[in-house]
Amino acid sequence: MRPLTIIGNWKMNGSLAANQQLIEELLSSKDFLANLQGVRTGLCVPYPYLSQVSQLLAKSSIACGAQDVSDHPNGAYTGDVSAKMLQDFACQYVIVGHSERRQFHQEGDGLVARKAKACLQANITPIICVGETEAEHDDGKTLTVVRRQLQAVLDLLQGQIASCVIAYEPVWAIGTGKVPTPAQAQDVHRELRLQLAKFDDEAASKVAILYGGSLKPDNAKDLLAMPDIDGGLVGGASLNAKDFLALCQAC
Ligand code: G3H
Repeated sequence: MRPLTIIGNWKMNGSLAANQQLIEELLSSKDFLANLQGVRTGLCVPYPYLSQVSQLLAKSSIACGAQDVSDHPNGAYTGDVSAKMLQDFACQYVIVGHSERRQFHQEGDGLVARKAKACLQANITPIICVGETEAEHDDGKTLTVVRRQLQAVLDLLQGQIASCVIAYEPVWAIGTGKVPTPAQAQDVHRELRLQLAKFDDEAASKVAILYGGSLKPDNAKDLLAMPDIDGGLVGGASLNAKDFLALCQAC
């Protein structure tokens, strides 16, 4: 039985004051704490807030994470941040290959795989995002795209895939309010798990495959009830304590 995992991705949002208020609200909710049993939760925040957020979450069961990482260990890479640096801030998760990184920073499958490897070398769990664009979806290419994206990771990580989390995020569902039906999302998750199983049967049964893309309290229950959907990667709804709590409770 895989534990459900709900990870918030704040993207480029927040401020010292707003972060403090949001986290205090989350931690002061008795319902939230009571419902966390058996559910892994985390917040992936912008780099400048890692110190603040990791301190605020230090005594809680909510993990702190980042949204990107360099594939290099150190050196002349201006503006980049290594996995070892993230380890200094108690990061337990790092999102890699988010479609916004692929789209706005031209990150390809090979680089995403190398970033995931850098995380594992620092004992950080990479949350590896895959997902098709709207045009690819309309062309019936969803499975071809996500299989290609996952295969690049499998080829590089080999036996380490059991230590990763995968997130299926249809690009057309991100921030749009559009969501696949639970059955459509389940079909993609199932295919991803079958692909993992071809590679490593035991790992396939353990790896959490999260759904992301307009996941909200009112659609979460049905999506999270699907057998191969093991939780969510949540953007907009993680910026609001009430919605994030409701999502965790939907588990
Ligand atoms: O990483 C999170 C996803 O991009 C989903 O974002 O929940 O705002 O659609 P969203």
